[in-house]
Order: sequence, then C-alpha cells, then structure tokens
Amino acid sequence: MPNRARFPPLAGRRAGARRMICVMSGHDERLEIVQGDITRLAVDAIVNAANTALLPGGGVCGAIHAAAGPGLAEECAALGGCPTGGARLTGGHRLPARWVVHAVGPVWRGGDQGEDDELASCYRRAIDLAFEAGARSIAFPAISTGIFGFPIERATRIALAEARAGLVRHPSLARIVLCCFSAGDLAVYERLARIPPTGAA
Ligand code: APR
Repeated sequence: MPNRARFPPLAGRRAGARRMICVMSGHDERLEIVQGDITRLAVDAIVNAANTALLPGGGVCGAIHAAAGPGLAEECAALGGCPTGGARLTGGHRLPARWVVHAVGPVWRGGDQGEDDELASCYRRAIDLAFEAGARSIAFPAISTGIFGFPIERATRIALAEARAGLVRHPSLARIVLCCFSAGDLAVYERLARIPPTGAA
C-alpha cells in the first residue's frame, strides 16, 4: 500500500524537524513520525526521557533543560521525583511547548525484568497526563533507547502500540508525534510503522 505524505506546519523545517515521514493508509492519521530536535517542535506538550530524581541529565533531557532554561529544573526539584514507569507534568518555560511531561522509562536490564511494561506504562501515563492538562498534541522522544540502553526495535514497537492506544483512548487528541533524533532510529520507526496495528507492533 502506498504511503501518503503529510506535512503539517508543526513538523516543518522551521519547527526543527528535518524530515517528515508518512503514515501508511489505514493507520491513524493523527500519528506522526519525524526526525529532529524535539525541543523545537511547536506542540502543546513534549515528553522528556527523565530519571527518577527528575534531575537534569544528558541526552534529550539535557537538551530540554537547556532550551527551557533554569526554571524547569527548579519546578522539577519541587516535585519530589517520579517512579520508573510514571510521569510528571511541568510547564514548558522557554520552550515552544506549553508543557513538559517527564516520563521515566526503565534502565535496560536484559529484558526479563519488567522493562516492557515499565516502558509502556510511562508512554501511557504521559499521554493521559498531558491530555488531562489540556494538551491536544504531544511529542515523544525514543524513551529509554539512549543512556538507558533499551533496544531500539523493541522500544519502537511499544512506542507505536502505546501511541495508537492513546489516540483510541482520547478521540479528541489531534496528534501524537514520535520524534527520532537519528536517521537510524527514523528508519526503524518508519519500517515498524508500516506494520498494521493488528500485526506485531
Ligand atoms: N530531540 C529528540 N530526541 C533526542 C534529542 C533531541 N534533542 N537528544 C537526544 N535524543 C534521543 C536519543 O538519540 C535517544 O534516541 O532521545 C532518545 C533517548 O535517549 P536519552 O536521552 O539518553 O534517554 P534515556 O535512554 O531514556 O535515558 C534517560 O538519561 O539524560 C538522562 O536524565 C536522563 O537519566 C536519564 C537518562
């Protein structure tokens, strides 16, 4: 089946996305996959791949804190942490996004220690928390696949399944954007997104 290209303004070049890929016909058109810097996306809420202490770190967390300014770390410090699999909401401070959802994915421990459920849980909670706050567009990085070591293919299947489930749970959500940083990750997302939702995803 052919792909159908869509280039909504939020994912355009000026918003920091370097490339937009299409979501296959038959998939929910509200699910989008882009490659770029999540801190530049003009969505209502961006998701941070956070740690349980909600402290500024490296990776996407460092990029989000750098772009948001020191007010974000101050707000995070007042939250008292977040368990793995959970999510917490803050303002976006100097980011284009109004909110940041700090989602704590699992550290990869071999794959038989509940990591899949923990990763699914933080996607689910992030979507529900952002939606309840009023967000109608939410962008995710590839949570846990960097410093936390979760294998990209396995994580991508979970990200796709939870994004699709979130769109079903919340019919008034306008879009969920899965934002890949590297071309390699984009290729994985692109390939797995072509598998129909009833398939292995
Ligand atoms: N925009 C989008 N994605 C990004 C960006 C960015 N600006 N910077 C990095 N990434 C991607 C990485 O390439 C990776 O695919 O985010 C994904 C998640 O990687 P990490 O940021 O390392 O997150 P994670 O594996 O969940 O580890 C979380 O790292 O920074 C610390 O505080 C954080 O302790 C926590 C841990």
